[in-house]
Amino acid sequence: MQFILIILRLVHIVAGAFWAGSALLIALVLLPGVRRAGPGGERHLPMAAISQAMGLAALLTTAAGLLLYGLVSRFAGGWIVSPLGIGLTLGSLAGLAAFLLGLLSTGPTSQKLGTLAGQIGAAGGPPRPEQAAELARLQAKLATSSTVSTILTTAALMLMAVARYL
Ligand code: HEM
Repeated sequence: MQFILIILRLVHIVAGAFWAGSALLIALVLLPGVRRAGPGGERHLPMAAISQAMGLAALLTTAAGLLLYGLVSRFAGGWIVSPLGIGLTLGSLAGLAAFLLGLLSTGPTSQKLGTLAGQIGAAGGPPRPEQAAELARLQAKLATSSTVSTILTTAALMLMAVARYL
């Protein structure tokens, strides 16, 4: 049992650090840089690869997190309302919300952006007006969902980091 807990914790924390760290990097560094570069700036970003890597990290974090939650809490009311339980439960809810947002919005939008950027790159030259408009729409949508997702993953990280000291 101890061995399973150690493996789950390693998977959960390493994948979670990658997920939350990537979300912060994208929201605070990459997207502002792309916006400054103007239309077509995202052509230089490997959006499909970023989306796949973050999707896998989110899946591993969430799956291991759910298993850990079941094993650690045994869903006992006394544990859930303890300071540690409250911290981990709120962190889990924030992490689950970020996972669903990624699955339903951030992931699909960044994949569409990657496909469109690839098409524009393959055609050469500046994007057509309708492509530029679609790029702007997708960038705005990605910026919103990525901001919300970054807030949620950072909240999950912070709550889980301090839960056992509450
Ligand atoms: C961005 C998402 C997440 C990050 C960055 C993250 C990070 C962490 C970290 C750093 C710890 C270690 C805390 C410590 O040992 O003091 C931890 C523990 C834990 N996490 Fe997460 N987590 C995330 C999402 C989730 C989700 C979605 C769940 C459940 C649905 C979850 C359930 C747990 C549980 C139950 C523990 C305690 C494990 C134990 O004490 O053995 N986490 N998490």
